[in-house]
Amino acid sequence: MSREWWRSAVVYQVYPRSFAGGGREGTLAGLRARLGHLAGLGVDAVWLTPFYPSPLADGGYDVADHCGVDPRYGTLDDFGALVAEAGALGIRVIVDIVPNHCSAEHPWFRQALAAPPGSPERERFVFRDRPNNWISKFGGPAWSQAPDGQWYLHLFDAAQPDWNWRHPDVVALFERTLRFWLDRGVAGFRIDVANMLFKQEGLPDVAAPGLTPLRPEAGATPYENQPELLELYRSWRKILDGYPGDRTTVAEIWFDAAEHAEPYLGGDGLAQLFDFRLMPCPWEAAAFRAVIDDSHRLARRSGGSIPWVLGNHDVPRMVTRFGIDQDLVRQPTAEVLLGQVEVDVALGTRRARAAALLQLALPGSAYLYQGDELGLPEHLAIPAERRQDPMFERTGRAFIGRDGCRVPLPWSGEAPPYGFPAGDSPELGTWLPQPPGWGPLTVAAQEADPGSTLALYRRALAERRAHPALGDGDLEWLDLGPDLLAFRREPGFTLVTNFGPGAAELPAHEAVLLASGPLDGSLLPADTTVWLR
Ligand code: GLC
Repeated sequence: MSREWWRSAVVYQVYPRSFAGGGREGTLAGLRARLGHLAGLGVDAVWLTPFYPSPLADGGYDVADHCGVDPRYGTLDDFGALVAEAGALGIRVIVDIVPNHCSAEHPWFRQALAAPPGSPERERFVFRDRPNNWISKFGGPAWSQAPDGQWYLHLFDAAQPDWNWRHPDVVALFERTLRFWLDRGVAGFRIDVANMLFKQEGLPDVAAPGLTPLRPEAGATPYENQPELLELYRSWRKILDGYPGDRTTVAEIWFDAAEHAEPYLGGDGLAQLFDFRLMPCPWEAAAFRAVIDDSHRLARRSGGSIPWVLGNHDVPRMVTRFGIDQDLVRQPTAEVLLGQVEVDVALGTRRARAAALLQLALPGSAYLYQGDELGLPEHLAIPAERRQDPMFERTGRAFIGRDGCRVPLPWSGEAPPYGFPAGDSPELGTWLPQPPGWGPLTVAAQEADPGSTLALYRRALAERRAHPALGDGDLEWLDLGPDLLAFRREPGFTLVTNFGPGAAELPAHEAVLLASGPLDGSLLPADTTVWLR
C-alpha cells in the first residue's frame, strides 16, 4: 500500500503578504504568477498562512471571517484559480485554520461586546468578572476589559479574543470552515496554536506567570493539552476522511518533551505535528542529534509523522541564528538580544546550507519557509515606526518581534523593491521595508548562479525525489566522532554534517551525490553537509 503523500512531502510555506505583489503587499494573483518558482524548486505542496479578511492586528492570525479572502489579497475566485493552477503543476495547497481565537472584529465578538454580561452572545468567548494571572504570549496580561467592566480572555493580542470551545456554536463554526475549504480543493490544514483551544475548567492561576513567547511552557499549564482536544481532532479527521485524496492536518504545537506530543499522534486524530525544536538548537552535533533522535523515535513508536522545520514566520531566520554567538541561541531571550549582537552572515549562510541538506535527508516530511531557499538573513534594521508585530509594543519594545523574517521576497534587481513591486507609493516601498544589499540574493541573480543557495535547494529536492532512500522511512546513526552528525539510510545513502571547527575525513563511499559547499579532496570542511552513495 502506498503511504500517504504527506509523510514524505516537501511543503513550502507562503506568507502571502510578502511572497509576490501586487503592490506594496503580496496578492494571490502575485503568487499565481510566481508558481513557476515553486515548480522549479520541486515542492509537493504549499502552505498559505492566513489570507482571510482581517484587520491585521496579528498579521492575519486575527480572523474576522473564516470563509473569505481579504480583498487586499484578491477574491475567492483567485483562490480557486490558485488551487487549480498549482494542481496542474503537481502542487497541493494547504491552508491555515486559526481555531483558538478570532479577530475582535469578528461579528460574533462584536455582538458579544454589545450584549450584557451573562448573555448567550458572551458565552461563545471567555468573559469573567475578574481576570486570573495568565500572561499573553505576546506579553502583558491575557485579559482585557469590555466597556462594561467584564474581562475577556486573549492568550495573544487584545484584538484576538479566545473562543469558548465548550460552546456548540464554536464547534459548528469550525466544522463549516473545514468543509468550506475542503470543498474548494485544499489538501489539508495547518492548525494554529493547536494545543490551547480548551482551557481547564475554573481557569486556575498558573504557578509562575511569565512571558513565554511561542515557546513550550515548562510543564502542563491550564491552557495547554487539555484532554478534550483529542476528541475534537478525531472529529475533524472524520470530516477530512469524508473527502477523497488523503487530506491532511499538521498542528502547530510547541512541545519540549515528546510525552506532550505523543497523545496527539498515531491515533485517528491529527495526521502530523511539527517539531520546532531544531530552531532553537545551537550549531552542535549533539544538540541536533538529541532532537532528531527523540522525534524520530516518537514518530516510529506512534506511527505518526513529524515534519522537520528550520524556519517559519515566527522565528528569526536560520542564516542569522547560525551566524551569532551560539550560546545565545539556546537562551529563551534570544529574540530580545537579536537586535544587539554581531551576525556573521557568511558563516550563518554556510551553516544554513548545511542544515538544509540535513533537514531534507531526514526521515519524514520537511517544511521550508519562503526565502530560506534564497538564504535570506533576518532583516534586523527595520525602523521602530515601521514594525508591525504586536509583540514589539506589548513587550515594551524589549522583543523586536517577528517582522525581520516577514520582509517581502527579493525577485530581481539591485535595490528595493527587488521586483516585488512597491505599488503606487514607491517612496514608502513594500509594506515592511527591505534592506539594501539583497541584489545577489534575488531569485533572478541566484537562478543564474550554479553555486547559489537556490541552486542547492533545487538539486537537493530533485535528488530527494529520485532517491529511493529519502523521504519517509528510517535511519541508522553512524558514530564518526563528536563533531560529526552522520547516518545511513537504505538503500545506499549516507549523510555527514560537520559541525566542528576543522575539516574531517569522509567515510568510505562510492560517490558524492551533493554537498552544501566545496569539499577539500577527501575532507569535509567545517559547517558543511555531504550526501554520499
Ligand atoms: C501562531 C502563529 C503566529 C500567531 C499566533 C497567534 O503561533 O504562527 O504567527 O501570532 O499563532 O495566532
